[in-house]
Amino acid sequence: MGHKISIRNYRPQDAGDAGAYERLKEGAFFAHLLTKPGYHVDLDLFFAEAGGSIIGLVNVLPELGIKRAVLDFAVERSQNLKVVLPALIKQALKRAKQLGVALAHAGVPALDMEPMSVLERVGFKIVRRFCDLQLNISAINLDGAGRMDWEYRYFKAGDMQLLSDIQNRCFAGEWGYNPNTVEDTAWQLMVRNNCPEDVILALDQDQVIGYCWSESECSRGPSVGVPKGRIYMLGVDNRYRGKGVAKQLLLMGLLHLKKNGRELVEITVDTQNTVAITLYESLGFHLCRETVWYEKSLS
Ligand SMILES: CC(C)(COP(=O)(O)OP(=O)(O)OC[C@H]1O[C@@H](n2cnc3c(N)ncnc32)[C@H](O)[C@@H]1OP(=O)(O)O)[C@@H](O)C(=O)NCCC(=O)NCCS
Repeated sequence: MGHKISIRNYRPQDAGDAGAYERLKEGAFFAHLLTKPGYHVDLDLFFAEAGGSIIGLVNVLPELGIKRAVLDFAVERSQNLKVVLPALIKQALKRAKQLGVALAHAGVPALDMEPMSVLERVGFKIVRRFCDLQLNISAINLDGAGRMDWEYRYFKAGDMQLLSDIQNRCFAGEWGYNPNTVEDTAWQLMVRNNCPEDVILALDQDQVIGYCWSESECSRGPSVGVPKGRIYMLGVDNRYRGKGVAKQLLLMGLLHLKKNGRELVEITVDTQNTVAITLYESLGFHLCRETVWYEKSLS
């Protein structure tokens, strides 16, 4: 007979909460949550406890611009997910309703059958699939990269509005894209520990027409395995598509990651985004994993 499970909010006075968050969400920084725009850690983060120990968590990430909340959960491996997860989700849905959003979304690795069956049991349905594509850049020749038919420059202080605007222009209406504010963009740059060269802007007569935002993933602690990098965002203004801007920006981003000593580069993309997938596959990227996105309507 196991202990009774209780769900509670994050408690600032509880020294163990921040540590439990980082233990359950490997690689995540609790400090980043505290500065996330529009997020309230004492209202949006919940822990499951049993026998005085934290055994799981759910985070309710509000994306009010598209009237959704993303539920991000983690349960200790040794625990019974079928019991702990429904309790966490129930609390998270209550919070999502308080936020006034219409939808709750949750992403699960495609091979994780257990959380998928729990989500389905509590009324979630599959709405989308995203995939992670991977490329080992140590073996590929990027000599031709670093050349653009367009003007370009790196991000600099004062570009926060420009970067937010081009992101919003490129991704407007894309599934799951919540329009960014300047604060969101500044936070994203901060949590990714970005340097100005990580963001390349393509220009036409001083107007930003596209961008490639990369990230040199330097994991905490002693590094294991090959050094990883990520293309976090790539976008081209509608009016400039089909002219090779994205391909050139992407090659520049990959060259930058290679110069940073990165070997394995990953990109996450909506499986319905055939234009982007065609582009990535043409450079040798291949599928490495898939995430299934679940939805529950709150109305
Ligand atoms: C995806 C996106 C960045 C492509 O930008 P783009 O500048 O039009 O792309 P390019 O002109 O450089 O095309 C590069 C390759 O993409 C593929 N491609 C481009 N347009 C295509 C189309 N209409 N249909 C199929 N493939 C297409 C081709 O493989 C092309 O290479 P090729 O010209 O050598 O055949 C742009 O459509 C965009 O910003 N979309 C919205 C944001 C987004 O989805 N970003 C990527 C998410 S990770």
